[in-house]
Amino acid sequence: MAKVYVFDHPLIQHKITYIRDKNTGTKEFRELVDEVATLMMFEITRDMALEEVEVETPVAKAKSKILSGKKLGIVPILRAGIGMVDGILNLLPAAKVGHIGLYRDPATLMPVEYYVKLPSDVEERDFILVDPMLATGGSAVAAIDSLKKRGAKNIKFMCLIAAPEGVEAMQMAHPDVDIYIAGLDEKLNEKGYIVPGLGDAGDRLFGTK
Ligand code: PRP
Ligand code: URA
Repeated sequence: MAKVYVFDHPLIQHKITYIRDKNTGTKEFRELVDEVATLMMFEITRDMALEEVEVETPVAKAKSKILSGKKLGIVPILRAGIGMVDGILNLLPAAKVGHIGLYRDPATLMPVEYYVKLPSDVEERDFILVDPMLATGGSAVAAIDSLKKRGAKNIKFMCLIAAPEGVEAMQMAHPDVDIYIAGLDEKLNEKGYIVPGLGDAGDRLFGTK
């Protein structure tokens, strides 16, 4: 069964509060999403593999550690996932970025895939799939289906706000994919929005609607 991590770091929780606030405008919303993505990534990378190297300081030779060079791929679900990419690349500038375009049909709430572009060496990479919202779970489940179909084996999913329904759908469909969340909310409403959530993440990021 996939593990679910809810980040309770005070800085993350503080920023999530302002992200939720309906009075937070587009510019500030975008900046906060970027900052939370960086902070979450810092936590998620805690188990990255290291290797020992020798380095010469101005004083002496030292044994020290560097990342062992496992290839990473960041995959935002379009549109809203794009808002998390730069924050992640601040920490991991060498990661490659793929894109999966999905939108939720407003009537059926079913995901519709319209674009996929991934790094060519999919099978060799560890992937972090990102989207601010995990609501019914349909989009994340479909994006992971799409990644696995193309050869991805090791995938983590990172989102800002999740509904219990989405977490359950993910655990049923992809028990091998761990989920990293900043806020686990109460429920979905009749339109499939997370309650209390933050509204429509794409619209708030890009100033549409
Ligand atoms: C939002 C969000 C997720 C999806 C979550 O995208 O960014 O991708 O809904 O809902 P689900 O868990 O029920 O599938 P949306 O479909 O609004 O597209 P957009 O990012 O292009 O606005
Ligand atoms: N997508 C959003 O952007 N917000 C929600 O609450 C649910 C799905």
